[in-house]
Amino acid sequence: MAAFRLCALLCWLSLTAVATSHAGSEKPSDTLDKEFHRQRREVLRQQLPPRSVAVLFASPVRNRANDVDYYYHPDPDFYYLTGYKEPNAVLLLFGSPQNVGGKQVQELLFVQPNNPMHELWNGKRLGVEGAAKELGIATLPNTDFSNFKLDTANLQHILIKELPHDVRDDAADEADLYSLLGQFKTKVNYPADFSATRSMLYGIVREHGLGQAEGVSVYIQEAMQQEPELKRDKPLQGYLEAKDMRSRTKAVAAVPSQKLDAYTLDQLLDGMREVKTEAEINLLRKAASMSAVGQIEVMKAMKPGMSEMEVQGIHEFVFKKYGAQHVGYPSIVGAGNNGCVLHYTSSAKPAISGQELVLMDVGAEYLGYTADVTRTIPANGKFTKEQRAIYELVLKAQEAGFAQCKVGNAFNAPHQAAEAVIADGLVKLGIIKKREEVQRYFPHGTSHYLGLDVHDRGSFGPFQANTVITVEPGIYIPEGSPCDRKWWGIGMRIEDDILITEKGWENLSKLAPRTVAEIEKTMAQPSALDGFKLPQLN
Ligand code: GLY
Ligand code: MN
Ligand code: MN
Repeated sequence: MAAFRLCALLCWLSLTAVATSHAGSEKPSDTLDKEFHRQRREVLRQQLPPRSVAVLFASPVRNRANDVDYYYHPDPDFYYLTGYKEPNAVLLLFGSPQNVGGKQVQELLFVQPNNPMHELWNGKRLGVEGAAKELGIATLPNTDFSNFKLDTANLQHILIKELPHDVRDDAADEADLYSLLGQFKTKVNYPADFSATRSMLYGIVREHGLGQAEGVSVYIQEAMQQEPELKRDKPLQGYLEAKDMRSRTKAVAAVPSQKLDAYTLDQLLDGMREVKTEAEINLLRKAASMSAVGQIEVMKAMKPGMSEMEVQGIHEFVFKKYGAQHVGYPSIVGAGNNGCVLHYTSSAKPAISGQELVLMDVGAEYLGYTADVTRTIPANGKFTKEQRAIYELVLKAQEAGFAQCKVGNAFNAPHQAAEAVIADGLVKLGIIKKREEVQRYFPHGTSHYLGLDVHDRGSFGPFQANTVITVEPGIYIPEGSPCDRKWWGIGMRIEDDILITEKGWENLSKLAPRTVAEIEKTMAQPSALDGFKLPQLN
């Protein structure tokens, strides 16, 4: 009796704890709700072929060193479709209902069960019942996946993404990702030499091999450089060797249809994630606004002698203050020549000099959605003549890019417009002799999609309404460049997050000062950090 009472009390206590944490008090009210994720699954399912299953895995836990792992980042597709943020999970979405244990189901999520010892160290898990309730999906423990019968004989298509690599085996966990992947491979008779790249190339050849033969051939050749075994693939070789329509038609027909398919699911997710819902746009707007305020606060606080690390810290403090959980990518804060390193992340310079520019490419990640905002400012608050000339040119290129952000325009239109402005401007300033040399100083693209990933999924087709992209031209003139040395050490990028709408475009990061006058005016303002001093450490 006593034992029963103790157990009843413990059960009651644990239920209370679950009820409190699920009451939502710790969840921001704009967290995407289960209806959002349900609709995403529904939209995907409607595009699946009959007799198909889409199989998605949670992303792996990555070890940092010894007992410490990196922060866990859910696979963005997995989060998008489920809202589940824990590791060691599998999602099955069926193109047509399947009989599972006498019930017709269209989806199944296998999740980590509750485990008090694990939760004591690492925090609460949703558990099987919690996941079913919070996420609204039919849910089973991941330990059931091994015995789950996937009726492969009756399935015509098994759609996957490239399976995660370098997954560690936790020998004590029979349902960690390592085991789940092994169990899946057994179920589907996964060929030892399966190549996701080959599967993708087969898909591309079947879909675009006749209409876009030149581009497809170049793509295959590039993939063969990366993965030389593909050079021995007969259907791909046959396609490359076909030089006229008749032989190409035959070569396309010779590409085998794929039951295990690592092409189609990526295509469908690219199409879906490119176009944002209103709830996603609100999260991106918030992330972009936080990031813009970070830029303002740094502009006010910036003083010569500050370190790159300190500047990074101010941005990231502002994000945290607003409740952003993470940065969307390692922050890039580079002064002087460091600003010419496109993805400089070490923030190693201990003291920025007054004459230097500081390039700050920093983005808050709020509830999974990331901003990507860059401003480049003079450390002492005033642009020099040369710095201003380059800044005005990058700004003009960005404006030209904005003007191309229209529904129906080619994805590349902002880049072409921005690059043309920079090419002309660099010739005029005498930094290059011919327009064709522009890529020496502007070596990257102008835009990428933005969303759950900083370089988000998308189809790269004509722009659609409710797409968010960056517009981020830059000019980088490292020391030693073949031009007048007065330009050396200028590294400049201006990057904003642009929502394409039916009516035009909206700058989601518009709070960040952008013109020379706005930046100099903001930098002249006092900062809350002006009197902030820490004791000297020996
Ligand atoms: N922050 C990385 C990029 O601008 O693409
Ligand atoms: Mn970017
Ligand atoms: Mn960026």
